[in-house]
Amino acid sequence: MFKIASLLALAGLVSAAVNVEQVHLGLATSAINCANGISVEFASASDKPMTVTYSAKGDATKTATTTVESYSVAAATYNYTSPYFHTALLCNLKSITSYTYDIIQADTGCGSLFSSKFVTAPAPGSDAVPTVFGIVGDVGSEHIMDTLQNMAVGMNGTVAQALIVVGDYAYANGQHEQWDAWYNQGQDVFSTVPTLGINGNHETIKGGGATKPKDKNKYIAENYIGYIHRSNNPITTAQKNALRTYFSVDIGLVHCVFLDDYAGTRGANKTFIGTQAWLDERNLQLQWLQTDLSTVDRTKTPWVLVLKHNPYYNSWNIHQCQCDATRFEISNPENCWKGIYGNSSDAAVSSQPHCANQAKFEDVYLKYGVNLVIAGHVHAYERTAPIVKNKVDSKNGIVYMTTGAGGHGNVCVRLDAIPSWSVSATSEAFAATRLVATKDALSVYTTANQVDTVLDSFQVTKNGVVNLQTNINQNTSNLSGSCDDDS
Ligand SMILES: *[C@@H]1O[C@H](CO)[C@@H](O)[C@H](O)[C@H]1NC(C)=O
Ligand SMILES: *[C@@H]1O[C@H](CO)[C@@H](O)[C@H](O)[C@H]1NC(C)=O
Ligand SMILES: *[C@@H]1O[C@H](CO)[C@@H](O)[C@H](O)[C@H]1NC(C)=O
Ligand SMILES: *[C@@H]1O[C@H](CO)[C@@H](O)[C@H](O)[C@H]1NC(C)=O
Ligand SMILES: *[C@@H]1O[C@H](CO)[C@@H](O)[C@H](O)[C@H]1NC(C)=O
Ligand SMILES: *[C@@H]1O[C@H](CO)[C@@H](O)[C@H](O)[C@H]1NC(C)=O
Ligand SMILES: [Fe+2]
Repeated sequence: MFKIASLLALAGLVSAAVNVEQVHLGLATSAINCANGISVEFASASDKPMTVTYSAKGDATKTATTTVESYSVAAATYNYTSPYFHTALLCNLKSITSYTYDIIQADTGCGSLFSSKFVTAPAPGSDAVPTVFGIVGDVGSEHIMDTLQNMAVGMNGTVAQALIVVGDYAYANGQHEQWDAWYNQGQDVFSTVPTLGINGNHETIKGGGATKPKDKNKYIAENYIGYIHRSNNPITTAQKNALRTYFSVDIGLVHCVFLDDYAGTRGANKTFIGTQAWLDERNLQLQWLQTDLSTVDRTKTPWVLVLKHNPYYNSWNIHQCQCDATRFEISNPENCWKGIYGNSSDAAVSSQPHCANQAKFEDVYLKYGVNLVIAGHVHAYERTAPIVKNKVDSKNGIVYMTTGAGGHGNVCVRLDAIPSWSVSATSEAFAATRLVATKDALSVYTTANQVDTVLDSFQVTKNGVVNLQTNINQNTSNLSGSCDDDS
């Protein structure tokens, strides 16, 4: 069979096999008409639809055909045409089940072009096994495999059911070849564990290219285009076309809400910020958040997690923004929501939108009992005590966490006055976070790359936050050494 196909190929009767690259899995949901699904995305030079065959042990093999898309960027200074991105949706999979899959180029009759396997997550509402995520932000390419290994398999040898990137994936900054390189670098992990995530500033407003010193004029801000075509998150084509990237998914016992801190931005166009169209986009996300959280079934998913790029409660000096005379206070939420930042020396709403967002989001988080808000952006780790509006409140408060030490540099300097809600902070290691949800607790462990030692860990329970093991100086002040604040 194979020989015949090869002979036919030699005779030019069928086309020759092409490469597939950048193979990465995503989670598919009913939002894209693929309940309990996995999406398989990969890049190829061929625009002809391909087939993904897949099967669980003992089951008949099923097939899914890829949809194909590509994009290009044209500027006087830089032109780029992407490879063809193929996406196959494998739907209605059995939960907590191992599947093998193969990418096949149907018209060659050749064998598998790529072969791998994955294990599906527990079904929404299932506590048959704990729900386990690896979470990190600000990955970049320098330490990508260390960070991905840490997220995927680092903790006690257990494998995460999903990897979550809280923004700033490849740091391509408009140099789209870097996205291609990034998905190739991480393919061993990306092709075996589904990734979910949300865009950060580097997928939206930041140009300048991937390398330093930056060629600021050559590479233009991506305005979502690379992110939308490459990160196979479960959002519809209509959402993608409207640049509305926020979404939610239920995995096991956790309702995960992904919010876009850059909603309403249009690349590097700062003139758009503050327009009615910008505000309308912000209000749409806010309304969506309210609707989404109001419909969560807490008997099914007792834990609600908000994942977004920018941390509001952040005691490192970088990426601060401020809407009030007192830092972290928001006395005029309406103005703050509209981007009127009273006392920002180093920030504008265009580059640091999180104060404006917090002005309206925090009430919604509190109203619907969000358990934990996780961000990146600041290249460090930090965890707060439970907070209600800048005050520690162990009964009603929400824990905010930054896990931005994903490998793209580290920050050094903290605020002169460190707020009392800052429980743990470090930027001394590149690190990733593991979240384990059972009916009783959300347990959160952050470990340094290549070490199984926990830097900091805690549990969110129905009765409050429990501190677990910590191995970092709770009093971390400024660090010395080379610091990279390109976050
Ligand atoms: C990009 O393509 C456009 C249109 O073909 C062309 O005018 C421009 O010079 C190209 N830029 C570069 C850097 O090659
Ligand atoms: C890893 O396993 C050890 C030994 O079983 C256990 O004591 C520890 O709590 C585990 N760590 C995590 C983070 O689950
Ligand atoms: C930037 O946004 C403003 C306001 O909507 C718009 O008038 C202008 O055309 C935009 N500029 C570019 C280069 O798209
Ligand atoms: C800015 O800070 C100054 C000094 O702390 C304060 O008097 C002023 O009210 C602040 N302005 C706003 C808009 O918060
Ligand atoms: C933290 O640092 C402050 C200021 O240097 C000091 O007063 C305090 O005792 C330290 N706390 C701990 C737990 O080391
Ligand atoms: C941390 O560094 C900043 C900036 O260099 C400085 O203003 C501040 O005083 C330092 N804080 C401490 C506690 O050394
Ligand atoms: Fe960022």
